Amino acid sequence: MSKPKILIARAVFPEVIARLEQHFEVESNQDDHTWSKAELIAHLQGKAGAFTTGGDRIDAEVLAACPELKICANMAVGYNNFDIDAMTAAGVLATNAPDVLTETTADFGFALLMATARRITESEHFLRAGQWTKWRYDMFAGADIHGSVLGILGMGRIGQGIAKRGAHGFGMKVIYHNRSRLDAALEAECQARYVGKDELLRTADHLVLVLPYSPASHHTIGAAELALMKPTATLVNIARGGIVDDAALAAALRNKTIAAAGLDVFEGEPSVHPDLLAVPNVVLTPHIASATMPTRLAMASLAADNLIAFFTGNKPLTPLNAAVLAIK
Ligand code: DGY
Repeated sequence: MSKPKILIARAVFPEVIARLEQHFEVESNQDDHTWSKAELIAHLQGKAGAFTTGGDRIDAEVLAACPELKICANMAVGYNNFDIDAMTAAGVLATNAPDVLTETTADFGFALLMATARRITESEHFLRAGQWTKWRYDMFAGADIHGSVLGILGMGRIGQGIAKRGAHGFGMKVIYHNRSRLDAALEAECQARYVGKDELLRTADHLVLVLPYSPASHHTIGAAELALMKPTATLVNIARGGIVDDAALAAALRNKTIAAAGLDVFEGEPSVHPDLLAVPNVVLTPHIASATMPTRLAMASLAADNLIAFFTGNKPLTPLNAAVLAIK
């Protein structure tokens, strides 16, 4: 019997490709071309499965043009590149890659928070530019982490990981806001107190955004929200571009409405708003929060596991629209 055909839409670990080749006839994009939607559709022709990453948009137009497609396995926990309703309507299963990246991403959230509050990249640029000629009492003086108020917007697994690092490692007072409140045991484990969004914005010394992107969370942080924050506050976004209004944030950084920001994700990435590139008090990283080799391998392996389970008649590990499985 011939093997099902799948497309791996981006470059990925050779060992993951080798494993998938045991089960599938694989076309891979190992040269990592950035495909247009038309090119993605062309490469998906005749494929029953797709291994995707967050940049590969699967919407009604793609689905209509690829009627043989049955499953898309995302190598990311976020899945705003999937139109889940359209996939469900087309009977196409969507899976993501949660859990395996939680601790690594929480580590990075904390690293970005510390780099931002303690002005690490700004001071390194100054040093590399040969501008360090003497000690000065207020040179690159930033904000304390220990004992400060850590605000978390979006208290899923990664938010909880950041809360625990802050509370247990740095003696921070943790407050959070989320669509739903955590149960008492989890709140105690994270040493986190639930507050309203405005209180979170007004009270946090350091605010970390970890909520998923959806049309409802578009520009959750804009000029009005930034105006509520302390002028000494730090804002960190490791969630998704579009949750923050990047133009409004650049203006707030320029005008010192808030002290500093750390951004791993951007509206329209990999483009970065030119106003953000022009302000010194922002640490900018290219969407690398989950980027350690073990974690990226675990994410890719989970996406592969989902494809293999689906085509061998087993239940995929992390389905997003399990209703599709019920009607198969
Ligand atoms: C995720 O998993 O959603 C990350 O943003 C991808 O790196």
